[in-house]
Amino acid sequence: MTASRRKHFIKTFGCQMNVYDSGRMADALAAEGYEPAERPEEADLVILNTCHIREKAAEKVYSEVGRLRALKEARRRAGGEMLIGVVGCVAQAEGEEIVRRAPAVDLVIGPQSYHRLPELLRASRAGAVVETEFPVEDKFDHLPAAAPARLRSAGPTAFLTVQEGCDKFCTFCVVPYTRGAEVSRPVAAILEEARRLVAAGVREITLLGQNVNAYRGQAADGAEWGLARLIEALAGLSGLERIRYTTSHPRDMDAALIAAHRDIPALMPYLHLPVQSGSDRILALMNRKHRRDDYFAIVEQLRAARPDIALSGDFIVGFPGESDRDFEDTMDLVRRIGYAQAYSFKYSPRPGTPAAGLEDQVPEAVKVERLAALQAELDRGQARFNAATVGRRLAVLIEKPGRKPGQMIGRSPYLQSVVVEADPGRRGEIVETLIRSAGPNSLIGDIIAGGEGKEHRAMEAIS
Ligand code: SAH
Ligand code: SF4
Ligand code: F3S
Repeated sequence: MTASRRKHFIKTFGCQMNVYDSGRMADALAAEGYEPAERPEEADLVILNTCHIREKAAEKVYSEVGRLRALKEARRRAGGEMLIGVVGCVAQAEGEEIVRRAPAVDLVIGPQSYHRLPELLRASRAGAVVETEFPVEDKFDHLPAAAPARLRSAGPTAFLTVQEGCDKFCTFCVVPYTRGAEVSRPVAAILEEARRLVAAGVREITLLGQNVNAYRGQAADGAEWGLARLIEALAGLSGLERIRYTTSHPRDMDAALIAAHRDIPALMPYLHLPVQSGSDRILALMNRKHRRDDYFAIVEQLRAARPDIALSGDFIVGFPGESDRDFEDTMDLVRRIGYAQAYSFKYSPRPGTPAAGLEDQVPEAVKVERLAALQAELDRGQARFNAATVGRRLAVLIEKPGRKPGQMIGRSPYLQSVVVEADPGRRGEIVETLIRSAGPNSLIGDIIAGGEGKEHRAMEAIS
């Protein structure tokens, strides 16, 4: 088999940063002569990019490896091969244990070592390889630049990691252990990557970081830039129409970033700002380092800066010691804020995190009940938010084909999915759309006008 015909298949679990990393790994593999396979059956290398955030997420890896083992054996019988790699946060957290529990796995690589993928891949032919050290060098300095062909096929929106890792140590969370300490990429590397994205047709970039608003990157002159300054520089790139960022921590929501929502039209009026709980007692036990009133104050400032800003959040129910009263505080916070969208989870004790050892774990039945109540409230909020856009004209960035022929799906400034009738050739255009109706998860609209260029920013939030 010649090198150019080898194929890889990457399956991605977890957060957007894993999605981004998988793309960068595909670029590294392309440089080694691998091309993407349509299905794992056809791949000489299958990579599972994994998530450790909750027990269920982590368990998926083992069931997935079980399925792959059968494919691997079938390929071997047919005279081929299939290497199996487990990367990402489970790889970092469980290391050697993965190979012990699932001997079909050839390669285990933690998130900070992806630049070593080609070399580790070669080494794995001589026996399973496990790499979970935190290297001193920055993987992004050593990974090949994103391949234009991959970027083009990915469409008009893209992720760009600007910060990685977490120093916050919320007591429930594995991320500080799986991703390591907070590191910000230098400004020049980010601007360069953004230019490449725009050149490949990207119109909207979402800046990623586990604590993206804690970004502190070195500029060319040695100065340290915060996220607001970085966004301002990116907004100056011609062809880049929309900027978003995620995920933010309330403690790092500084005045400059709040002002950016007022001053930078390309910065979309949508913010994912997880609070986790509305109870001060639980927030303290979670080590979130802020109170509910701090959160209300930040949201008030954001709304003063950008009155139409839509908020999204993450919530955990059933954190150890959470009483009915604490949970009611969360419900109250949700009602007061009025989220456009949100994610909510049952607390899942994670090995090695402080909260997993707390007494007073909440019974499963209580968690189930609280999650249902919270989700019903969040769903009502989302439906209300969507319904309020009916009759408005919104700027929609057309992203991909819809389910029915003739339909395309785009995004509103508030990250809502909008179904419109449009030609597939309009992918990447920002079109003015009159919202005709709203469902719980998407809107339906009619295109009124559309086209190219920055003048369309002016209508980002036309009402
Ligand atoms: N860095 C982000 C989120 C990281 S994880 C932040 O600080 O907000 C994404 C979400 O998963 C978290 O916001 C939290 O709501 C949820 N989560 C994390 N650990 C969890 C656990 N042990 N059990 C349940 N949900 C958890
Ligand atoms: Fe996890 Fe908290 Fe860090 Fe977010 S801020 S990644 S929830 S430890
Ligand atoms: Fe999961 Fe790791 Fe992301 S644990 S949420 S893949 S940072």
